[in-house]
Amino acid sequence: MGTVSAAISISAAAAVVSRPAGRRRHRGSASFRCSTSAAGERQALFSRIAPVYDHLNDVLSLGQHRTWKRICVSWSRVKKGDRVLDLCCGSGDLAFLLSQKVGLDGEVMAVDFSRQQLHTAAYRQEQRWKLCYKNIKWIEGDALYLPFTDCYFDAVTVGYGLRNVVDKSRAMQEIFRVLKPGSRASILDFNKSSSLFTASLQSWAIDNVVVPLASGYGLTEEYKYLKSSISQYLTGEELEKLAKEAGFSVAKHYELGGGLMGNLVATR
Ligand SMILES: C[S@@+](CC[C@H](N)C(=O)[O-])C[C@H]1O[C@@H](n2cnc3c(N)ncnc32)[C@H](O)[C@@H]1O
Repeated sequence: MGTVSAAISISAAAAVVSRPAGRRRHRGSASFRCSTSAAGERQALFSRIAPVYDHLNDVLSLGQHRTWKRICVSWSRVKKGDRVLDLCCGSGDLAFLLSQKVGLDGEVMAVDFSRQQLHTAAYRQEQRWKLCYKNIKWIEGDALYLPFTDCYFDAVTVGYGLRNVVDKSRAMQEIFRVLKPGSRASILDFNKSSSLFTASLQSWAIDNVVVPLASGYGLTEEYKYLKSSISQYLTGEELEKLAKEAGFSVAKHYELGGGLMGNLVATR
């Protein structure tokens, strides 16, 4: 693999479509520019937590996030030779899993708008080198304006990303647009539970475990955001509705981890 900075340039292999005015990548600027201040704040937040993100995921979930990510990838029904998208890829956990599933005849496009997260992903790719990882391309881009033509992918995964996107409806429409007919999106995230017990447990765990632990890394405010992002997120039922409105023919949300997590599976 080349240098890390080369690894996050938009791939020539990607079928790049023109972006609406104001959504262009600003060459030479430090990072991808967001159109709204809310999106810009989230981009900055994920860039700040990038250095400790993987470590905190392991500690906070007691390693369980690895199981949920495997389930998410498996439910996308990805197979050898597929061309797949991991949206909001962060430091690349799902992209690495997809890479092994599609093999060297397949392709993984991993998109995120935080350059720091993509640098971590590319660094991890170098460190834990596997031949199949050559099939991953790290792409700096916005979930709301995907740089791919229609019907381009055999599967799309999103891990803990949709909750953080400012315009979830638009992101869902983009996921639908780039999927081939009959193919699936598998979208993993915290579950906004309708059960009072689960919601209270989740809220307690964030206040009493997640935030105090993150404070040790100077990231109190960053992890307080987690609670508000879950409360502003959609329930399983609402996610199914959102997917159907975007055009998906089938959409089913499954609870994981005792209802603390959820995974939406939507078929185009
Ligand atoms: C919680 S992290 C999840 C990373 C990874 N998928 C995982 O499961 O570990 C959310 C990621 O979504 C990215 N993100 C949020 N909004 C985005 C957008 N509009 N376009 C692209 N990436 C976005 C952030 O930069 C961040 O890396």
